[in-house]
Amino acid sequence: MKFDSDIGKLARLMAESIAGTSRRNAILSEMRIQPGDTIIDVGCGAGHLLPHLAKAVGGSGTIYGLDPTTDQMEQAKKRCEDFQNIIFIEEHADKSDLQDESCDSATSTQALEYIPNVDAALDEITRIIKPGGAFVNISILWDHFKFFGADEKLNDKVHEAFRAHCSHQMLPMELPGKLAHRGFSMIRDKSLAYLITKRDENSPARYTEAVMANFALTQGMTEAEVSDWKSQLEAAEQQGRFGFTSFPVLTVGYLN
Ligand SMILES: C[S@@+](CC[C@H](N)C(=O)[O-])C[C@H]1O[C@@H](n2cnc3c(N)ncnc32)[C@H](O)[C@@H]1O
Repeated sequence: MKFDSDIGKLARLMAESIAGTSRRNAILSEMRIQPGDTIIDVGCGAGHLLPHLAKAVGGSGTIYGLDPTTDQMEQAKKRCEDFQNIIFIEEHADKSDLQDESCDSATSTQALEYIPNVDAALDEITRIIKPGGAFVNISILWDHFKFFGADEKLNDKVHEAFRAHCSHQMLPMELPGKLAHRGFSMIRDKSLAYLITKRDENSPARYTEAVMANFALTQGMTEAEVSDWKSQLEAAEQQGRFGFTSFPVLTVGYLN
């Protein structure tokens, strides 16, 4: 999936919604940040987490925001222009150009699942973390990313089309093994699952519906089918039988 133009804009709206805020809170409470730390956010997107990290490490610390999408990076730079301790790296996750063991910890939110060669990205993250440092990741269990309320067959068709939007549908299931294999220990995971029954303007369900509808069109579904799906969700909401579930998982491990 490309994160420029409309999709990038929708990803930013998601990041600004309650779903984005609760993820950032979960990361910050897991990270055990010390003043002076150096931390990298891999796939930082429009940089919503970066100011929080920058404040936590203070002026003697450094935050790296890495993302390969120019459009997202431009938004991140604008958001972080008041911070002197944030450095941007416009690169893919498998090529940070940082020195070995240069970060006290690393974090990533809803980015690793989009990287086809996720093992190369994890190798790079492992290389740049100091021994004892944490890696805190949030990825979504996409098989549980579901709308309810539309006709089952049509609904399944939209969800099936959406599978192509990312390379790893169930990364949180594989991540503990991948981290253990790279020398991480004390690996834990935590559910950040949520359910939404309204699709008002500021609801993540509304933005997600728009993302999935646009994506389904790129996968060959017709305008009529997609518009029918949206109308059926709207009707379901009015009748009090609408639902949207998402199952993000926070995984944390410490490098030996
Ligand atoms: C859904 S956005 C999440 C952005 C941000 N972490 C957040 O929570 O708002 C996914 C991000 O992953 C980035 N991404 C895609 N492929 C990547 C790669 N190979 N390495 C690093 N980031 C990548 C995209 O550019 C995009 O900004």
